Amino acid sequence: MNQAFNNDISIIHLDEIPSTNDYLSQLCRQENVPEFQVVTAMSQTAGKGQRGNSWESEKGKNLLFSLVLHPTFIEAKEQFYLSMLIAICVSELLEQYTEDICIKWPNDIYWKDNKIAGILIENELIGKDIAQCIVGIGLNINQETFHSSAPNPISLRQISGKETDPDLILQDLLNRITNYYNELKRNSKEFKQTLSDIYLDKLYRHTGYHAYQDNNGIFTARFHHLLPDGHLCLEDEQGNVRAYAFKEVNYILS
Ligand code: BTN
Repeated sequence: MNQAFNNDISIIHLDEIPSTNDYLSQLCRQENVPEFQVVTAMSQTAGKGQRGNSWESEKGKNLLFSLVLHPTFIEAKEQFYLSMLIAICVSELLEQYTEDICIKWPNDIYWKDNKIAGILIENELIGKDIAQCIVGIGLNINQETFHSSAPNPISLRQISGKETDPDLILQDLLNRITNYYNELKRNSKEFKQTLSDIYLDKLYRHTGYHAYQDNNGIFTARFHHLLPDGHLCLEDEQGNVRAYAFKEVNYILS
Protein backbone atom coordinates (compact mmCIF):
# COMPACT_ATOMS: atom_id res chain seq x y z
CA MET A 1 0.00 0.00 0.00
CA ASN A 2 1.30 3.46 -0.89
CA GLN A 3 0.24 6.27 1.43
CA ALA A 4 0.63 9.99 0.69
CA PHE A 5 1.96 11.93 3.66
CA ASN A 6 2.44 15.68 4.26
CA ASN A 7 3.73 17.44 1.16
CA ASP A 8 6.77 15.48 0.27
CA ILE A 9 6.66 12.17 2.07
CA SER A 10 5.25 9.05 0.55
CA ILE A 11 5.14 5.82 2.51
CA ILE A 12 5.18 2.28 1.17
CA HIS A 13 3.76 -0.04 3.83
CA LEU A 14 4.80 -3.67 3.46
CA ASP A 15 3.95 -6.77 5.40
CA GLU A 16 7.04 -8.99 5.51
CA ILE A 17 10.29 -8.36 3.66
CA PRO A 18 13.94 -9.21 4.36
CA SER A 19 14.98 -5.65 5.26
CA THR A 20 13.48 -2.19 4.69
CA ASN A 21 16.99 -0.80 4.09
CA ASP A 22 17.67 -3.38 1.38
CA TYR A 23 14.22 -2.94 -0.17
CA LEU A 24 14.68 0.82 -0.44
CA SER A 25 18.22 0.67 -1.78
CA GLN A 26 17.09 -1.83 -4.41
CA LEU A 27 14.21 0.48 -5.37
CA CYS A 28 16.71 3.33 -5.71
CA ARG A 29 18.76 1.21 -8.11
CA GLN A 30 15.68 0.54 -10.26
CA GLU A 31 14.14 4.02 -10.44
CA ASN A 32 14.51 7.65 -9.43
CA VAL A 33 13.30 7.70 -5.85
CA PRO A 34 12.55 11.12 -4.34
CA GLU A 35 13.97 12.22 -0.99
CA PHE A 36 11.86 11.16 1.95
CA GLN A 37 10.45 8.08 0.31
CA VAL A 38 9.68 5.87 3.30
CA VAL A 39 9.32 2.09 3.47
CA THR A 40 7.86 0.39 6.54
CA ALA A 41 7.42 -3.30 7.29
CA MET A 42 5.43 -5.21 9.86
CA SER A 43 8.29 -7.68 10.05
CA GLN A 44 11.69 -8.34 8.55
CA THR A 45 13.13 -11.76 7.87
CA ALA A 46 16.69 -10.43 7.65
CA GLY A 47 16.60 -7.13 9.56
CA LYS A 48 20.09 -5.66 9.58
CA GLY A 49 21.80 -4.11 12.56
CA GLN A 50 25.15 -2.40 12.88
CA ARG A 51 28.40 -4.39 12.81
CA GLY A 52 26.76 -7.15 10.75
CA ASN A 53 24.30 -7.97 13.54
CA SER A 54 20.67 -8.82 12.92
CA TRP A 55 17.74 -6.79 14.24
CA GLU A 56 15.02 -8.59 16.19
CA SER A 57 11.43 -7.37 16.03
CA GLU A 58 8.21 -9.28 16.69
CA LYS A 59 5.70 -8.95 13.86
CA GLY A 60 3.53 -5.83 14.07
CA LYS A 61 4.79 -4.80 17.48
CA ASN A 62 7.42 -2.22 16.67
CA LEU A 63 8.42 0.43 14.19
CA LEU A 64 10.67 -0.72 11.35
CA PHE A 65 11.31 1.71 8.55
CA SER A 66 13.79 3.23 6.16
CA LEU A 67 13.88 6.52 4.32
CA VAL A 68 16.09 7.89 1.59
CA LEU A 69 17.89 11.24 1.60
CA HIS A 70 20.06 12.96 -1.00
CA PRO A 71 22.08 15.29 1.21
CA THR A 72 24.07 17.01 -1.52
CA PHE A 73 24.55 20.07 0.71
CA ILE A 74 26.98 18.33 3.07
CA GLU A 75 30.26 16.67 2.23
CA ALA A 76 31.03 13.01 2.78
CA LYS A 77 33.49 13.91 5.53
CA GLU A 78 30.59 15.52 7.43
CA GLN A 79 28.29 12.52 7.27
CA PHE A 80 28.28 12.23 11.04
CA TYR A 81 25.95 15.26 11.17
CA LEU A 82 23.25 13.13 9.58
CA SER A 83 23.84 10.44 12.14
CA MET A 84 23.54 12.99 14.96
CA LEU A 85 20.42 14.51 13.43
CA ILE A 86 18.60 11.20 13.23
CA ALA A 87 19.68 10.11 16.71
CA ILE A 88 18.51 13.44 18.15
CA CYS A 89 15.11 13.15 16.45
CA VAL A 90 14.56 9.62 17.80
CA SER A 91 15.65 10.70 21.29
CA GLU A 92 13.46 13.80 21.33
CA LEU A 93 10.51 11.73 20.18
CA LEU A 94 11.02 9.22 22.99
CA GLU A 95 11.53 11.94 25.58
CA GLN A 96 7.82 12.71 25.17
CA TYR A 97 7.06 9.28 26.61
CA THR A 98 9.77 8.75 29.22
CA GLU A 99 12.75 10.25 31.02
CA ASP A 100 16.31 8.84 30.91
CA ILE A 101 16.65 8.65 27.12
CA CYS A 102 20.16 9.16 25.82
CA ILE A 103 22.32 8.51 22.76
CA LYS A 104 25.05 5.92 22.99
CA TRP A 105 27.79 6.82 20.53
CA PRO A 106 27.50 6.68 17.63
CA ASN A 107 23.74 6.34 17.30
CA ASP A 108 22.12 3.79 19.58
CA ILE A 109 19.19 5.11 21.52
CA TYR A 110 19.22 4.06 25.13
CA TRP A 111 16.86 4.18 28.07
CA LYS A 112 19.14 4.02 31.11
CA ASP A 113 21.48 1.09 30.24
CA ASN A 114 19.11 -0.56 27.75
CA LYS A 115 18.75 -0.16 24.00
CA ILE A 116 15.34 0.97 22.83
CA ALA A 117 16.15 1.92 19.24
CA GLY A 118 18.81 1.27 16.64
CA ILE A 119 19.77 3.27 13.58
CA LEU A 120 21.53 1.91 10.52
CA ILE A 121 22.66 4.56 8.04
CA GLU A 122 24.01 3.34 4.72
CA ASN A 123 25.61 6.07 2.62
CA GLU A 124 26.64 5.86 -1.00
CA LEU A 125 29.55 8.21 -1.54
CA ILE A 126 30.63 9.61 -4.88
CA GLY A 127 33.93 11.43 -4.50
CA LYS A 128 33.43 14.06 -1.82
CA ASP A 129 29.64 13.84 -1.93
CA ILE A 130 26.95 11.76 -0.32
CA ALA A 131 24.95 10.65 -3.34
CA GLN A 132 22.42 8.67 -1.36
CA CYS A 133 21.71 8.04 2.28
CA ILE A 134 19.43 5.24 3.43
CA VAL A 135 18.39 5.74 7.03
CA GLY A 136 17.00 2.63 8.72
CA ILE A 137 15.36 2.88 12.12
CA GLY A 138 14.14 0.12 14.41
CA LEU A 139 12.26 1.33 17.46
CA ASN A 140 11.01 -1.12 20.06
CA ILE A 141 7.48 -0.06 20.93
CA ASN A 142 5.14 -2.82 22.07
CA GLN A 143 7.32 -5.96 22.21
CA GLU A 144 7.31 -7.53 25.67
CA THR A 145 10.01 -10.18 25.41
CA PHE A 146 13.17 -10.36 23.34
CA HIS A 147 14.81 -13.61 22.30
CA SER A 148 17.96 -12.72 20.36
CA SER A 149 21.39 -12.59 21.90
CA ALA A 150 21.35 -8.76 21.91
CA PRO A 151 22.55 -7.87 25.39
CA ASN A 152 20.06 -5.28 26.58
CA PRO A 153 16.96 -4.63 24.45
CA ILE A 154 13.95 -2.87 25.91
CA SER A 155 10.68 -1.49 24.52
CA LEU A 156 8.58 1.54 25.30
CA ARG A 157 5.89 -0.84 26.53
CA GLN A 158 8.30 -2.40 29.05
CA ILE A 159 9.22 1.07 30.32
CA SER A 160 5.81 2.72 30.42
CA GLY A 161 3.52 -0.31 30.84
CA LYS A 162 1.39 1.09 27.99
CA GLU A 163 0.75 0.23 24.35
CA THR A 164 1.60 2.94 21.83
CA ASP A 165 0.49 3.14 18.20
CA PRO A 166 3.56 2.68 15.94
CA ASP A 167 1.89 4.82 13.24
CA LEU A 168 1.64 7.81 15.57
CA ILE A 169 5.29 7.43 16.42
CA LEU A 170 6.19 7.20 12.73
CA GLN A 171 4.32 10.42 11.87
CA ASP A 172 5.88 12.31 14.75
CA LEU A 173 9.35 11.04 13.89
CA LEU A 174 9.04 11.89 10.20
CA ASN A 175 7.94 15.43 11.09
CA ARG A 176 10.94 15.86 13.34
CA ILE A 177 13.36 14.47 10.77
CA THR A 178 11.98 16.69 7.97
CA ASN A 179 12.12 19.81 10.17
CA TYR A 180 15.68 19.20 11.34
CA TYR A 181 16.86 18.14 7.91
CA ASN A 182 15.38 21.25 6.28
CA GLU A 183 16.98 23.38 8.97
CA LEU A 184 20.36 21.75 8.29
CA LYS A 185 19.89 22.45 4.58
CA ARG A 186 18.95 26.10 5.19
CA ASN A 187 21.39 27.00 7.84
CA SER A 188 24.12 24.48 7.52
CA LYS A 189 26.94 26.07 9.52
CA GLU A 190 25.05 27.25 12.57
CA PHE A 191 22.79 24.26 12.69
CA LYS A 192 25.76 21.87 12.63
CA GLN A 193 26.94 23.48 15.84
CA THR A 194 23.44 23.18 17.30
CA LEU A 195 23.32 19.49 16.41
CA SER A 196 26.72 18.86 18.02
CA ASP A 197 25.61 20.67 21.19
CA ILE A 198 22.34 18.75 21.50
CA TYR A 199 24.08 15.45 20.72
CA LEU A 200 26.72 15.97 23.41
CA ASP A 201 24.07 16.96 25.89
CA LYS A 202 22.29 13.63 25.33
CA LEU A 203 25.42 11.47 25.16
CA TYR A 204 25.39 8.24 27.19
CA ARG A 205 28.29 8.15 29.67
CA HIS A 206 29.12 11.76 28.94
CA THR A 207 30.63 12.14 32.39
CA GLY A 208 32.60 9.88 34.72
CA TYR A 209 34.95 6.94 34.15
CA HIS A 210 33.56 3.76 32.61
CA ALA A 211 34.84 0.44 31.25
CA TYR A 212 35.59 0.09 27.54
CA GLN A 213 37.32 -2.50 25.39
CA ASP A 214 39.59 -1.96 22.41
CA ASN A 215 41.97 -4.37 20.69
CA ASN A 216 44.41 -4.01 23.60
CA GLY A 217 41.83 -5.17 26.14
CA ILE A 218 39.57 -3.65 28.77
CA PHE A 219 40.38 -0.20 30.12
CA THR A 220 38.75 2.56 32.13
CA ALA A 221 38.29 5.95 30.53
CA ARG A 222 36.09 8.98 30.34
CA PHE A 223 34.59 10.83 27.41
CA HIS A 224 36.96 13.56 26.24
CA HIS A 225 35.60 14.98 22.99
CA LEU A 226 34.10 14.11 19.65
CA LEU A 227 35.91 14.84 16.37
CA PRO A 228 33.93 16.47 13.53
CA ASP A 229 34.05 13.18 11.58
CA GLY A 230 32.44 11.36 14.51
CA HIS A 231 35.52 9.72 16.05
CA LEU A 232 35.09 9.25 19.80
CA CYS A 233 37.99 10.50 21.92
CA LEU A 234 38.39 8.83 25.31
CA GLU A 235 40.85 9.76 28.05
CA ASP A 236 42.22 6.91 30.14
CA GLU A 237 43.13 7.19 33.82
CA GLN A 238 46.72 8.06 32.92
CA GLY A 239 45.50 11.06 30.91
CA ASN A 240 46.15 9.53 27.46
CA VAL A 241 43.55 10.54 24.89
CA ARG A 242 42.81 8.19 22.03
CA ALA A 243 40.43 8.61 19.08
CA TYR A 244 38.27 5.67 18.05
CA ALA A 245 36.39 5.01 14.86
CA PHE A 246 33.15 3.06 15.10
CA LYS A 247 33.88 -0.65 15.68
CA GLU A 248 37.28 0.11 17.25
CA VAL A 249 35.89 0.35 20.76
CA ASN A 250 33.15 -1.39 22.73
CA TYR A 251 31.32 -0.17 25.78
CA ILE A 252 31.37 -2.65 28.65
CA LEU A 253 27.81 -2.61 29.92
CA SER A 254 27.11 -3.09 33.59
C1 BTN B 1 21.54 -1.29 15.19
O1 BTN B 1 22.17 -2.35 15.15
O2 BTN B 1 21.51 -0.62 16.22
C2 BTN B 1 20.82 -0.78 13.98
C3 BTN B 1 19.49 -1.43 13.84
C4 BTN B 1 18.68 -0.89 12.66
C5 BTN B 1 17.44 -1.70 12.44
C6 BTN B 1 16.56 -1.10 11.41
S1 BTN B 1 14.99 -1.86 11.34
C7 BTN B 1 14.59 -1.01 9.88
C8 BTN B 1 15.86 -0.96 9.05
N1 BTN B 1 15.97 -2.14 8.21
C9 BTN B 1 16.99 -2.91 8.56
O3 BTN B 1 17.29 -3.99 8.01
N2 BTN B 1 17.65 -2.37 9.60
C10 BTN B 1 17.06 -1.11 9.97
